[in-house]
Amino acid sequence: MTLQEKFEVLDKKNAEALLGGGQVRIDAQHKRHKLTARERIDLLLDAGTFEEIGKFVMHRCKDFGMEKEHYLGDGVITGYGKVNGRLVYVFSQDFTVFGGSLSESYAEKICKIMDLAMKNGAPVIGLNDSGGARIQEGVVSLAGYADIFYKNVMASGVIPQISAIMGPCAGGAVYSPAMTDFVLMVENTSYMFVTGPNVVKTVTHEEVSSEDLGGASAHSSKSGVTHFSCTNEAECIEYIKNLLGFMPQNCEEEAPVLPYESTGNELRPILNTLIPDNPNQPYDMREVVYQLVDKGDEGFVEVHKNYAENIIVGFARIGGRSIGIVGNQPSVLAGVLDNNSSKKAARFVRFCDCFNIPLLVLVDVPGFLPGTDQEWNGIINNGSKLLYAFCEATVPRVTVITRKAYGGAYDVMNSKHIGADLNYAWPAAEIAVMGAQGAAEIIFKKEISEAENPAEKLKEKVDEYTQKFATPYRAAHRGYIDEVIMPEETRKKLMSAFEMLENKVATLPRKKHGNIQL
Ligand code: HXC
Repeated sequence: MTLQEKFEVLDKKNAEALLGGGQVRIDAQHKRHKLTARERIDLLLDAGTFEEIGKFVMHRCKDFGMEKEHYLGDGVITGYGKVNGRLVYVFSQDFTVFGGSLSESYAEKICKIMDLAMKNGAPVIGLNDSGGARIQEGVVSLAGYADIFYKNVMASGVIPQISAIMGPCAGGAVYSPAMTDFVLMVENTSYMFVTGPNVVKTVTHEEVSSEDLGGASAHSSKSGVTHFSCTNEAECIEYIKNLLGFMPQNCEEEAPVLPYESTGNELRPILNTLIPDNPNQPYDMREVVYQLVDKGDEGFVEVHKNYAENIIVGFARIGGRSIGIVGNQPSVLAGVLDNNSSKKAARFVRFCDCFNIPLLVLVDVPGFLPGTDQEWNGIINNGSKLLYAFCEATVPRVTVITRKAYGGAYDVMNSKHIGADLNYAWPAAEIAVMGAQGAAEIIFKKEISEAENPAEKLKEKVDEYTQKFATPYRAAHRGYIDEVIMPEETRKKLMSAFEMLENKVATLPRKKHGNIQL
């Protein structure tokens, strides 16, 4: 063979690899309104930055006629490239090759880029579209999954890991994305479940479609498995790029700080009137967030938007600095903490702490949700997840109490006592063990029942309790609140606070690891 002919062999192999499972299957993929694995990578990465690794890898299976069917790359495209100029590693499962199913060599390709990502400190993005374990390979495929799971866990907290689900993801295969930091799903073309509709029907006699059982809607609103439900693949990839912008490359680095030029007026007078006079009237905490962050509503990337809506979590920037926001949402269930909202916020706090993203906590919480449903589903353990997550977080932590901070929920929501660095309250804040009505009914029970006019007595006692405790001043006198501020000056205060806390150093006691209530 001449040198020229050898070059041509390479060209031919490259062209063959680009076609994956072939044009017919590519067309079928498009017909299902799905992009191919390579098209997804092209959308994700900056133009011309993708470098492929393992393009000519093939499976080694010799059973069931597999020795006669080979595709270069073997169903997953792996490599590295840049998103907005920053290095990322990527694997993209190719449904056109054996339904994107996972073989031994396919798993090795994924593990190889995960190892590189760990050594070089950059995020891994997984684009998932797979029929699961390569059935012809049996236990070898299961071993491959386990190898990936192990790497997911080793990488957790070291580099950000993001999973987009863009097709099937079933059986034990779901556990790799589930163990990554963020899961995004595409509506109507993706699903995740441990056991599919057929098994469900056999075991529980329930009839349910794949979409209803494990589609984007189910997982973004009911289970909380997915953080983002996306209307199409392009939107999903945009979300990934946007998310990456708030994160550092790894746990040793800080998130990028964008240049910020102050207009000179950081006051937001609208905040003085945003909260209703009547403490029982709801308002949307997002409106507060939009006033506090750079670029208003466009500057806030809400995570887990449709799940446990009584708490909001998400990323934004203040003065160009990336921050994570946790806020009670008074417009849903009065902003109470319950099982799901505690779990949602705890997970978010831990992500931010892993990756050095400071936390802003906006508090308007009447307490924990009462009821058998809550107690029997473990509000004691779930509430303590959030408590634990805040206690352990060493990133800069700033709290603003906008209205209510009652009972144990006051302690849990990033109070001074559990390590917050700066705690502000607005003048109408109510910081107490419980609401005035309930408190008066308990501590003045005898006095009220013996009074000539019990209703009048109750009102008098409620007023007394309100005057004494439904204010921020008792807490401020003790230094639990560092400053009572006018709502309009909150953004200004936060800009200074996060700048002041920029070089915060805090460490945890030496230990193997803590024992969070899982
Ligand atoms: C090998 C597979 C495959 C698999 C699909 N294919 N799944 N090959 N192993 N797991 C192949 C098909 O033979 C077909 O090949 C091509 O991929 C496309 O599949 P279709 O069935 O034609 O596509 P579609 O109708 O869209 O259905 C997709 C599907 C279905 C829902 C994923 O293929 C399916 O149910 N596959 C089996 C899923 C499964 O049971 N996997 C194992 C789960 S257990 P041709 O040559 O026709 O293109 C598991 C355990 C993991 O994953 C445990 C980890 C710990």
